[in-house]
Amino acid sequence: MTNAYEQAYQRSLNDPEGYWGEAARSLHWYKPWDRVLDDSNKPFYRWFVGGMVNTCYNALDRHIEDGRGGQAALVYDSPVTGTVRTYTYNQLRDHVARFAGVLAGLGVGKGDRVIIYMPMVAEAAIAMLACARIGAVHSVVFGGFAANELATRINDAKPKAIVTASCGIEVNRVIPYQPLYDGAIAMAAHKPDHVVVLQRPQAAAPMTAGRDVDWTDAMAKATPHDCVPVAATDPLYILYTSGTTGQPKGVVRDNGGHMVALRWSMEYVYGVKPGEVYWAASDVGWVVGHSYIVYAPLLNGNTTILYEGKPVGTPDAGAFWRVISEHRVRKLFTAPTAFRAIKRDDPNAALMKNYDLSCFDTLFLAGERSDPDTLKWAETHLEVPVIDHWWQTETGWAIAANCMGLHPFPVKHGSPTKAVPGWDVQVLDEGGKRVSPGTVGALVCKLPLPPGSLPTLWNADERYVESYLSEFPGYYKTGDAGFIDEDGYVYVMSRTDDIINVAGHRLSTGAMEEVLASHPDVAECAVIGVADELKGQLPLGFLVLKAGVGRDPAEIVKEVVAMVRDRIGPVAAFKTATVVKRLPKTRSGKILRGTMQKIADQQSYNMPATIDDPAILAEIEEALTAIGYANGR
Ligand code: COA
Ligand code: AMP
Repeated sequence: MTNAYEQAYQRSLNDPEGYWGEAARSLHWYKPWDRVLDDSNKPFYRWFVGGMVNTCYNALDRHIEDGRGGQAALVYDSPVTGTVRTYTYNQLRDHVARFAGVLAGLGVGKGDRVIIYMPMVAEAAIAMLACARIGAVHSVVFGGFAANELATRINDAKPKAIVTASCGIEVNRVIPYQPLYDGAIAMAAHKPDHVVVLQRPQAAAPMTAGRDVDWTDAMAKATPHDCVPVAATDPLYILYTSGTTGQPKGVVRDNGGHMVALRWSMEYVYGVKPGEVYWAASDVGWVVGHSYIVYAPLLNGNTTILYEGKPVGTPDAGAFWRVISEHRVRKLFTAPTAFRAIKRDDPNAALMKNYDLSCFDTLFLAGERSDPDTLKWAETHLEVPVIDHWWQTETGWAIAANCMGLHPFPVKHGSPTKAVPGWDVQVLDEGGKRVSPGTVGALVCKLPLPPGSLPTLWNADERYVESYLSEFPGYYKTGDAGFIDEDGYVYVMSRTDDIINVAGHRLSTGAMEEVLASHPDVAECAVIGVADELKGQLPLGFLVLKAGVGRDPAEIVKEVVAMVRDRIGPVAAFKTATVVKRLPKTRSGKILRGTMQKIADQQSYNMPATIDDPAILAEIEEALTAIGYANGR
């Protein structure tokens, strides 16, 4: 007898059109699809071709018609401003329709791009849904990114409008956004026609006459806008994510496949029933925020929590327990780093005892490797299943998980359990051959990918093929290395590229190297990710100075740290660099970043056969020891 997971998994691979076609029936279509899966232009696949939909209609209006209008749709909980505000489905739909009217009034229409650069306020979700309502394509940029990063995205997406706020609020400071968005617009070659500014009382933003529009004024005057039918294959959003260079990749998400996959995932991956309260403690600037703060819970008729705060410091390590008990949260989804922060501040979970958590039944973790210690700590204190699951910005939803709505398997610490239906996960060696169970290799997914995964990169079909599909023809390369055990459990071990994961935030060491290399005194540089107890990884820079530079190295380090903060943003958490005489390289000139990282983390390593001069490794070790890494740890 096979279980529900195995049946679903096999059918999703053997009969994807039948499987996803059935899943799509739970949603509203203005016109049904002509084909569930169009594979006529391989390696580009399209889902639900010929179908006409509206994601916002499915997230809001549909539920109101089904009698959910009075149910809470979104709870904005902001310990940093002392605010809790609940929007019912009726109220959220009204705000979204009005803001859709604001955008339409500014000339934004179907297919136009809108950049949303906002802190964790309800208006960020309202702006996203308003774009979806009129068929505009949103691109949310995380508030922790600097002006330069915003400028890169403005140039690539070419938005008609930017929606922003006067400030963001971190634990210890208010961050005025106006210098950031104005700085970005000044830097960018493309200029948006309008900037809509949500003025927050913590810091007012000066307005540029003729260009800037006040959110509140515009909402008061706007006419609500109805949903506009779009093709299922039309883009819903672009979300930029770190690649291996300073030029981020614009991951595209379609409308039809996305809503089908996300609604399905709520039922079968998370085991959530409509009407329940679901909380993803992330940020709308990341894919977790797109999928599981905004779209999936609303598509499934849940109450979603939008939390403007941190796991610790707002005000203490009991913050998550307060939110769970106050809003009767059933499932929480967050990054392991949040739990490491809570565990560090409250090792015995004493604060948990102050709250009634009887409503809470499952914790989901993703975004980085779940270290078994943290996972066990959460299991012990919460006394609920703790479910690790693995996915990426590109995939939009889980590739591997313990599907709680199908057939929960016993948890193996260190593994996000099994491939989710739709995902044919395999492990290949360098030559593209499948390896035996337990052997580490490249984690890939056989094409076609299921609905909801990226159809391409924005205006960059070639880069899409080159980045993901060319190394292993017929497969999508995840960029992660790992293995699958005899029982089919997937283990994700590390990235195979220059991407690092800092506090669940995906960052490119290549992008940081580009910043360091632009310092006038730096001849050469390298950035690696070193292990960190709280954030999982932290970036660490190595600088080789130009001949004849006699300045104090500490000053230069201070300058490059400031440059990374200024050009990439505080979220890069780039705080440490060291000056060395030379970098270890292969004879062909490739910098041995992997070996440097192993030395920093005190891991054993084999002397690379192709190393140019082994003596350099001793110099690197000495430099690392001096700043508290390697033998100085
Ligand atoms: N706007 C402006 N600055 C921001 C920001 C934002 N939206 N988000 C973070 N920053 C700043 C922080 O203030 C910090 O600045 P600092 O260098 O002056 O201290 C810096 O960027 C690094 O931020 P962060 O990585 O969040 O570190 P932290 O020390 O403030 O908090 C954690 C550590 C673990 C509590 C925090 O990272 C966390 O809650 N992580 C949860 C993970 C998560 O949500 N991941 C998303 C994917 S699921
Ligand atoms: P992002 O695109 O920001 O979601 O980051 C995706 C990357 O985070 C993946 O490619 C992995 O390297 C890492 N990641 C996400 N979830 C997990 C997980 N559950 N276990 C291990 N690594 C993960």
